[in-house]
Amino acid sequence: MEYLKFKSGTGSIPIVGYGTWQAKESELKTALNEALKSGYRHIDTATAYGNEHVIGEVLKEWFESGQISREDVFITSKLPPFFNRPEDLEKTIEKSLKDLQLDYLDLYLIHVPFSLISKVPDDYATMELDTSTDHIKIWKSMEEQIDKGRAKAIGVSNFNIKQLKRVLDNSRIKPDNLQIEHHLYLQQPELIAFCKENNVTVTAYSCLGTRANRESMGLTLKRPELMENETVLKIAEKHNRTPAQILLRHIVQKGIVVIPKSTNPQRLAANIQVFDFKLSDDEMEALNAEDQGEEGRILKFTFFNNIQNHPEYPFPRDK
Ligand code: A2P
Repeated sequence: MEYLKFKSGTGSIPIVGYGTWQAKESELKTALNEALKSGYRHIDTATAYGNEHVIGEVLKEWFESGQISREDVFITSKLPPFFNRPEDLEKTIEKSLKDLQLDYLDLYLIHVPFSLISKVPDDYATMELDTSTDHIKIWKSMEEQIDKGRAKAIGVSNFNIKQLKRVLDNSRIKPDNLQIEHHLYLQQPELIAFCKENNVTVTAYSCLGTRANRESMGLTLKRPELMENETVLKIAEKHNRTPAQILLRHIVQKGIVVIPKSTNPQRLAANIQVFDFKLSDDEMEALNAEDQGEEGRILKFTFFNNIQNHPEYPFPRDK
């Protein structure tokens, strides 16, 4: 495993992590055990995923059996949009720690740049916009979590360059990580370069294209499936690797963290085997050329009612 070192907080993030968004409770327990057996030591979760208690149970078993200790694993969680306010932050991170049965998180992120008010718990469609979002005030509460030992590093997710720059320019403890949608069809080179210049590590979510439940979540992919893309298939054949391994290696070789998710033991084991081969410059360029810009974006958060009218909506709005 390779790691990226944080500059502002403490610790290093393993370049391949285990993603848990949309992982169903029953599946997740088995899959996470498989992932830990396969060598995953980085788990990505969030309050909004509703699965932290499952992860907590599995981790407890692994700690108690002595197979791993707390320092061996890297755990990320995120402040959800419906608690995206300074006054809600402390109780939210405390609840995550309780459910995960941990004393501290390795990384805590602001999940999205906008805030919502939840009237009916977990019902995304009925949440209302809270347009009073103030990133600088929220960030101050994030910094306090480091001071109080609840997080080793802090960062943001789904922020655009302007939003990230404002946090960088107005912080005592700098964000160490930006988590964004990043894959073959949405590569965002400008945002990546900005992060490199400012010592912010980047984590790519939906790195394989988030195949499961796309329709039910209102997610769209206008292009061929990433794993059926011809350039990817050709390179996979040449290296005798799976298309998923090529997609992941392409991102990892750019120095970006990936958090693929799979509940299948063979596939999740293969997804972590991306350090024993290298793509040539020509192959990297051919894969870079598959970028579709904004057209390639899958997740626009439109399952939240009216979200594109929020002043902090981070992406270009649909016409
Ligand atoms: P499965 O759990 O059946 O393996 P993302 O991480 O971009 O959200 O994508 C996850 C989706 O990709 C899941 O539907 C997962 O299905 C599938 N997937 C994960 N790894 C592989 C792989 N190596 N080959 C094919 N599909 C994969």
